[in-house]
Amino acid sequence: MKHSNKIILLASVFLLLIFFYHFPIDGEHQHQNLKHRFQLENYLSDGSSPILPIPLSLDLDPQIVALGERLFADPLLSSSGFSCLSCHPVTRAGVDGLQLSMISGGGFDSKNTPTVFNSAFNALQLWNGRLQTLEQQIDGVIHNPQHMNNSWPNIIKALLQDQDYSRAFDSLYPNGLTSSNIMDAIATYERSLITPNADFDRFLWGERDAITAEQKQGYKLFTEYGCISCHQGINVGGNLFARFGIFENHLPRNKPLTEYDYGRYSYTGDNRDKFVFRVPSLRNVAVTAPYFHDGSASTLSDAIRTMAHIQLDLLLSDEDIASIESFLTSLTGEFRGVKL
Ligand code: HEC
Ligand code: HEC
Repeated sequence: MKHSNKIILLASVFLLLIFFYHFPIDGEHQHQNLKHRFQLENYLSDGSSPILPIPLSLDLDPQIVALGERLFADPLLSSSGFSCLSCHPVTRAGVDGLQLSMISGGGFDSKNTPTVFNSAFNALQLWNGRLQTLEQQIDGVIHNPQHMNNSWPNIIKALLQDQDYSRAFDSLYPNGLTSSNIMDAIATYERSLITPNADFDRFLWGERDAITAEQKQGYKLFTEYGCISCHQGINVGGNLFARFGIFENHLPRNKPLTEYDYGRYSYTGDNRDKFVFRVPSLRNVAVTAPYFHDGSASTLSDAIRTMAHIQLDLLLSDEDIASIESFLTSLTGEFRGVKL
């Protein structure tokens, strides 16, 4: 044998030894792997689960939260009579329950109102993911002629007339009442709008009986069918873009398309972004009907059936839909100790 061939042979044997050392192909090891992939018991909050539990609380200044809470409910912020609370009532899971959102002066928008709960955990804001931070969203909605239809100088003038507001801003912020401090206070309040202690989160924390057998089955299907590939992370969504209608278009049949129906394309103008939306969070989804950016699904089972059909090319049985719905119900959490 030539010298160089000998070296190649020795090197191959060496590499094979390293390979078997790291990946022993015995039955026990393979069995462990399969167990890890398919056993629900492994979906714990130790990082092995694609869904992470919501923390019990965030470290926020309670006085700023209280100031933000007052601003959130105050129609002084708008010239249209709306407060943030008009469309996002926190006693109703942060949604108005309408198919399409109201607009100032009467009539309706082309989009459904998403919840404000847990929006702090969304990496992308709005149905089409156009904004990233809560502060950007507040600045946008304040100036939007269809929503608050106002300006910062107007708002500051109005708030300065109220001694409680000017005193609160002076004591909490070194530079007092400014537009960025107003945004900071509202955003801080929004960060307090989180819903820990959902049954599914208690299951993730290790409470084995926190969810029912049907909910476990629903979670298994949610994982195995592939819903989890888009709806994952702490908010079970909110962090990815995806086309709405991968296997089949989901275009409204009985009305013309609005600019908003084009999703991300409406602000990038890039053809590849047509019908691409942010994957929404499924936290508290059981109590935030109707569904989709155009409010076109009135029940959760409708939304699940449509999702399976257009995103995964699956026609689900009623039984599977019921199990997945039951699992999604276990994502309803608590705000200030009360279930949403
Ligand atoms: C007239 C109804 C209305 C008012 C008033 C309103 N919103 Fe909204 N809100 C909406 C709609 C509709 C959307 C979705 C807009 C979009 O996707 O383009 C939304 C989106 C949001 C989002 C993003 C949620 C998500 O999942 O992407 C947050 C956060 C939010 N609003 C907070 C506020 C705050 C804070 C105020 C007050 C300063 C406010 N809203 C006032 C209707 C309203
Ligand atoms: C390829 C990514 C993807 C997959 C896979 C996927 N979804 Fe979605 N899901 C989305 C997007 C994008 C939307 C938002 C559609 C819109 O903007 O109208 C959405 C919306 C939803 C909604 C409505 C939420 C709301 O607040 O309106 C539900 C419920 C839902 N999905 C459940 C599921 C279920 C159950 C499965 C599996 C059967 C699934 N999804 C699979 C991307 C996906």
